[in-house]
Amino acid sequence: MAIEIIGTGKAVPPKRVSNNDLSAQIDTTDEWIRSHTGIGNRHIADENTACSDLAVEAAKNALAMAAGYTGADIAERNRAASEIAGSIDMIILATATPDFYGTPSTACIVQNKIGARNAAAMDVTAGCTGFVYGLETAAGLLSIRQERKRALVIGSEILTKVTDWNDRGTCVLFGDGAGAVILEKTGADGKRGILRSLIYADGSGNSSLIMRRGGSRNPYKKGETMTEPIYIEMNGQEVYNFAVKAVTDTIDALMKAEDIKIDDIARIIPHQANARIVQAAARRLRIPLERFYLNIEEYANTSAASIPLALDEMNRNGLLKKGDLLLTVGFGGGLTYGGNIIIW
Ligand code: UT7
Repeated sequence: MAIEIIGTGKAVPPKRVSNNDLSAQIDTTDEWIRSHTGIGNRHIADENTACSDLAVEAAKNALAMAAGYTGADIAERNRAASEIAGSIDMIILATATPDFYGTPSTACIVQNKIGARNAAAMDVTAGCTGFVYGLETAAGLLSIRQERKRALVIGSEILTKVTDWNDRGTCVLFGDGAGAVILEKTGADGKRGILRSLIYADGSGNSSLIMRRGGSRNPYKKGETMTEPIYIEMNGQEVYNFAVKAVTDTIDALMKAEDIKIDDIARIIPHQANARIVQAAARRLRIPLERFYLNIEEYANTSAASIPLALDEMNRNGLLKKGDLLLTVGFGGGLTYGGNIIIW
């Protein structure tokens, strides 16, 4: 048995905001943002777009590819996607920015919108590691029941709606987007698909990256005036130090677990939070930087969406060959971290 990726998809809002656009509104510069993070642009959703809207677009693109259609005609894509939507057994959606807090899950909204009537649906909350966790969750659920064949795993985020636009230390970092994959259980035993996943958490760092208001710890109370929207707070340096170690340790552990050498790895797809984190980990592990796929320049940090978004971009640009050994590595709020080994 193998759990293979048979389709990928992404969605980003059309509105593209450059560092120079931001510096016209807040006290920052293109030079600072590029030199400290590698970010050049981000895509920002309009007022009417929620997490499930981007998730549905990414899911339809992935479903259509799994059904054999990769063209640009939207009606054809939708037809191809709806052909196989009924064959999906579960939807796992990773996000920190759901349509609604608590209930319903965004996965259930996606299930309804794409017509995946036979799919179980739930969200995963694991910060920017959400997609890595989601793949392992879906692979596990597919493995333990013979009748389950296919899963849709999505990372989708609208971070710009929970961004503190008065905090230049965080607001320049985030962007909106979604990525999705279709997993299928096949007979390609050990030759293709998800070979192994490692998922970890260090809850002692739970307040390093946090949305403090709105939950049961700190709800808005009757009569209280809501002066500001709910937003993300981050201790940048704490998270930076954690992230470099998380990336280094995860890649090292994945390689040891499957007895993999650096030369065996075709590409590493890291969570795109900061190019400097990847550069520091690459130096420590003595892995050439070119082995890491980076698209942070265009999309900034899209949290749980960043890995599947990169995966789809690589796939559609012909950067992935059958048999390639890929590593994903994620880290983020929780604090959480982990990675997957995938044979393409
Ligand atoms: O995806 C979830 C995981 N998140 C991450 O992995 C993020 C991890 N952290 C980081 O990537 C980095 O810590 C940041 C990019 C967030 C910050 O970079 P830094 O090199 O740690 O900067 P800093 O916070 O130490 O700030 C250095 C200086 C400060 O000025 P002073 O006090 O030295 O005068 C800041 O006020 O840079 C200033 N600064 C800015 N200047 C221009 C902070 N933000 C900005 C800005 N534009 N946007």
